[in-house]
Amino acid sequence: MSDNLAIIFGGPSPEHDISILTGLQTSRVLSSKDKVLNIYWSRDNKWYLVDTNLESKDFIGNNSIFKKELNIKLDSNPGFYYKKKKLEISTVINSCHGGPGEDGTLQSLLDLLMIKYSGPGLSTSQLCMDKYTFFTVMSANSIPVLNTHLISDTNKPDFQGPYILKPRFGGSSIGVEIVEDYQTALSITKNSTLYNQGSILQPFLEESDDLLIGVRTYPNIDYSDIEKPIRSSNNDMFSYKDKYLENGGLEGSKRELPAKVDPLVKNQIIEILNKLLTILDIKGICRVDFLSKGEKVYLNEVNTIPGSYALYLWEQIGLSKFDLLKDMVDETKLKTNNWTNEGSDGTALKKAKDIQSKLG
Ligand SMILES: Nc1ncnc2c1ncn2[C@@H]1O[C@H](COP(=O)(O)OP(=O)(O)O)[C@@H](O)[C@H]1O
Ligand SMILES: [Mg+2]
Repeated sequence: MSDNLAIIFGGPSPEHDISILTGLQTSRVLSSKDKVLNIYWSRDNKWYLVDTNLESKDFIGNNSIFKKELNIKLDSNPGFYYKKKKLEISTVINSCHGGPGEDGTLQSLLDLLMIKYSGPGLSTSQLCMDKYTFFTVMSANSIPVLNTHLISDTNKPDFQGPYILKPRFGGSSIGVEIVEDYQTALSITKNSTLYNQGSILQPFLEESDDLLIGVRTYPNIDYSDIEKPIRSSNNDMFSYKDKYLENGGLEGSKRELPAKVDPLVKNQIIEILNKLLTILDIKGICRVDFLSKGEKVYLNEVNTIPGSYALYLWEQIGLSKFDLLKDMVDETKLKTNNWTNEGSDGTALKKAKDIQSKLG
């Protein structure tokens, strides 16, 4: 099989545009050394092979400028096809944020297509996108998280407001709102499509800080510097506007890096990360977000595909964008698929034959 590398970006997600930025940046960095194919997944769920020299503004209009629409075949020779020709892709770097690109859907598709991809597989991807299940699992493992209530007509939370309301499967702070009472949370949930897959409620931790840290798993498990984003208002939250609209996007947004954090806080973060890695099968470069208030630290979320993979977090410890992305490609190439037969002599197939022979 050829070693072609493809970058997939876009996707039918509210974070579609940010994903284009990550995809183009990744492609630009990697194409300096490798042959790279760019695959754009449109908002309306179409797939295109696009030129690597396109810029983000080229993706603003409709899809008519893209001439190479791809088909996906799940037959005996599965893969991405342009007309009748299969694209020889062995490895995908997944640059899709939010929605089906991050929640396990694309991961499952690539599994079925027998293409290796960056980042975690189906179950870890899904767990990290489903805020209700994520907090429930973390809490069951004694990792400090805030109380989490799944919003429903019949069930009220057993903690007091003010609350923070979040889409159950959200990202980029889209739909995250501070609400005073449960009734308001219920009515916002019912009246906006942002919450049509459900919503969760947590106590609003006033005057808290966000603390963000990068984690990668190859060639070793490494943690980046800790970042403290600077919000536009002290008692508010790290909003979509702070993240992307001010100062030219996530990389330009205001931050303290490395953040000046109390050693007690830093130790708690490291302890939580060490434990987290025994629970979650994280792969690639993710960003783990914490909320802190005084000496208290709460795990807030694991972004398995953070904006621009948060590569800027590693600069001061001497890892360049190229080094990080190249390591992620190498990690992906080394992956084995849990259940498909890799080539004609795959591990899953072998296991099945072994079991069969034991059973007689
Ligand atoms: N319980 C909370 N109390 C106070 N602020 C919070 C709380 N949860 C989230 N926030 C703020 O809202 C932001 C977005 O919430 P988050 O859970 O990270 O959602 P998303 O997945 O959309 O990024 C966080 O970065 C933080 O600033
Ligand atoms: Mg967040």
